[in-house]
Amino acid sequence: MSTSSRLSLKYMSLGVLVLQTTSLVLTMRYSRTQKEEGPRYLASSAVVCAEVLKILTCILLVFRDLNFSVRSLHRVLREEILGNPMDTLKLAVPAAIYTLQNNLLYVALSNLDAATYQVTYQLKILTTALFSVSMLGKRLGVYQWLSLVILMAGVALVQWPTESIGNSEQKALSAGTQFIGVMAVLIACISSGFAGVYFEKILKETKQSVWIRNIQLGLFGFVFGLTGMMVYDGSRVVEAGIFQGYNRITCIVVVLQALGGLVVAAVIKYADNILKGFATSLSIILSTVISYFLLKDFDPTSVFFLGAMLVIAATFIYSHERKLVLSTTKV
Ligand code: C5P
Repeated sequence: MSTSSRLSLKYMSLGVLVLQTTSLVLTMRYSRTQKEEGPRYLASSAVVCAEVLKILTCILLVFRDLNFSVRSLHRVLREEILGNPMDTLKLAVPAAIYTLQNNLLYVALSNLDAATYQVTYQLKILTTALFSVSMLGKRLGVYQWLSLVILMAGVALVQWPTESIGNSEQKALSAGTQFIGVMAVLIACISSGFAGVYFEKILKETKQSVWIRNIQLGLFGFVFGLTGMMVYDGSRVVEAGIFQGYNRITCIVVVLQALGGLVVAAVIKYADNILKGFATSLSIILSTVISYFLLKDFDPTSVFFLGAMLVIAATFIYSHERKLVLSTTKV
């Protein structure tokens, strides 16, 4: 592949990641909070559908790489996925973690507004850094560690309790849901950091293409997601079916979540994790603006603004030092 087409793929994947992250957060939040007649859709079922869609898209991408030869596709899938079960099994670990994470994100967005969720979820930069240091032996510079401290301060400010109006019962209820939402995001941050670094390690240590790896990841994700759905929502599934409460917005959420998995994989391949951090920071600004002006479900305080600014600044400082180190090594 030529340098220019690789470069355009890199910026295209980052641009798509900004749009995908923003639209997923907003539509998921909307889909979990809109008033509807009848039962709400099952988040566990949406997670399973997104996995199926992701697997089918990855198979299509592998098929395209093989010049649409059915015989080659059959051979590649048999050899790469069934031919080496121990190798395929490695993907079970990140798949189980991602399945938990994907379900937790629905819990988080059912209990937190879009902006608070996104800023808090930036803590995954910290967990990714810590896992990269401990599992991949990466080394961080002083400014990078400093930026991680700024990041934590920013997230703490965003979470700072505000004097809300309403009676004490309402306040207790909103504090309760806020706590559940924040706990869900914090666990998702640990899982995102670990699974991301584990996936990166597998990609670097073996020769399989990123799409083959994603098919393996998706197959396990499907099995775990289905098991989770039957364990937690089994009686509701038996009562009203897997697709109960689905509407057009639910379908958009499923497509956006599947697209997210593909874009994250493409960004890891064509860009890097630091640029991925930039993309999520841009997405924070975009979703805060949309959440404030369009959805009107978020009333930012000055402490929130300060916290958000610190999170964004921390992301830039973290990335900047990487650039400095790279340019010094080049000289
Ligand atoms: O960056 P973050 O951890 O938030 O993104 C994780 C999301 O991307 C999860 O939904 C996960 O299922 C998906 N993913 C994927 N394939 C990869 C890596 C992540 O589908 N190779």
